[in-house]
Amino acid sequence: MKNDSVKFKKELSLGQKGCSLRKQSDGKGATQPHFLSTEPYKGTRDFYPADMSVRNYMFDTLSRVVEQYGYVEYDAPLLEETALYKAKTGEEIVNEQTYSFTDRGGRDVTIRPEMTPTVARMVARRRKSLSFPLRWYSIPNLFRYERPQRGRIREHWQLNVDIFGIDSVSADIEIIAVAYDILRAFGATDNDFQIRVNSRQLINFLLNDFLKVKNEHAHTLSKLIDKKAKITEKEFKAQAKEILGAKTAVFIDFLNNKDIDNLPKEFETNQGAQDLKKLFQMLNELNITNIVYDSTIMRGFDYYTGIVFEVYDTNKKNNRSLFGGGRYDNLVDIFGVEKVSGVGFGMGDVTLLDYLTTHKLLPVNLRSDTNLYICVCAEKYEKDANILARYLRARDIGIVLDITNRKISAQIKTAVNANIPFSICIGEDEIRSGQYKLKMLSSREEKLVSKEEIIQIILGRLKQ
Ligand code: HAM
Repeated sequence: MKNDSVKFKKELSLGQKGCSLRKQSDGKGATQPHFLSTEPYKGTRDFYPADMSVRNYMFDTLSRVVEQYGYVEYDAPLLEETALYKAKTGEEIVNEQTYSFTDRGGRDVTIRPEMTPTVARMVARRRKSLSFPLRWYSIPNLFRYERPQRGRIREHWQLNVDIFGIDSVSADIEIIAVAYDILRAFGATDNDFQIRVNSRQLINFLLNDFLKVKNEHAHTLSKLIDKKAKITEKEFKAQAKEILGAKTAVFIDFLNNKDIDNLPKEFETNQGAQDLKKLFQMLNELNITNIVYDSTIMRGFDYYTGIVFEVYDTNKKNNRSLFGGGRYDNLVDIFGVEKVSGVGFGMGDVTLLDYLTTHKLLPVNLRSDTNLYICVCAEKYEKDANILARYLRARDIGIVLDITNRKISAQIKTAVNANIPFSICIGEDEIRSGQYKLKMLSSREEKLVSKEEIIQIILGRLKQ
């Protein structure tokens, strides 16, 4: 990992290959033009129209579910002052994963690697005039300088859903219910994913009060818990033993316990334990049962203060964390305003797309915004075809007019490939009679109709 990060830094300082137009020698003295690379910058993606229709489908579904809960959309600039992340985002992201630079005015700025500090800043900025609770969401593009691998790249879009101003566990319950409903809205069943929940308060109590470890050791142990799933049991035990000595067994027993009702009696009055119990009970009553207590869920960020959770894919081919979040009660006040509690999660489009693909949940035919393809039998009919297209567009029908003057079969093929549901052809007969053969391209069924009937049929289908 360390070597990788050194390599990345070197690469960053050298700049991207293929960014300038250079000439290369062919070895025989002649120079060949060296063309610019067509690849996007490492770890980032181009979204061609077919990719955009998938992305739009995902974002539309996300927005629909969160809006059903009353969350309203916000946005903010891509660049923030670097200091914003230094406060509470966590060392790994700030030191190794941010794209930071000094602007022409000498300010240290960073392309946002996450949205939580930004939304906390926005809430703090209008702390006095906003009426709480706030239910806000956003789908920003984020950048992290990571080693590209499955599920992790350097740029991703991330749904952020956050509720501000509710101190009780009711907010955590709602946020987890939203996360659950999103995956269900994509067609996932309860067996397809698992919600793993823990509490930072519980872990703080375990380390500080129960095991009585020193502050600096508590931090190291938190990081160790966070990486428990990534190292062997032997390694984990050895590292824990260096700090805990004889108390290691108690520590490991605590982490192996999967039953929130089976904590040592000292934890009975702990707020974290009580919140977790209430959360499991309530979510079970709401029929959300694919949720478990997992004391190894830590979440890397320094700002989390209460319940934290991660949603895991249960499929063996993609057994990984899909997304996560938690409660952060001390973030808004770092801007010098009165405290406001926050709870939320971030869900990335890369892991979501992998998930939908693995579970075959992407619709085969994504709906096109264009509903009608108008084929033109010969160039001389283009004027009438244009007039009809304008008439229909003014009535909310999305239309592509074929102006290629190709054979009708080629025009129809284009419409089918573009996933457009209906077509008509304009020729002598249609112009004279005002009657058009409306073809449903999926079934090839045809019906002779007027332009008013075209509107009725297409708008009727859109409402379905
Ligand atoms: P995070 O766990 O860093 O949390 O990111 C949330 C999700 O964003 C991840 O679970 C994953 O789906 C996606 N993600 C993160 N980094 C990458 C990457 N390099 N490539 C692809 N996908 C990625 C946060 O960012 C918190 N700010 C979330 C939050 C909101 N907590 C409370 N409110």
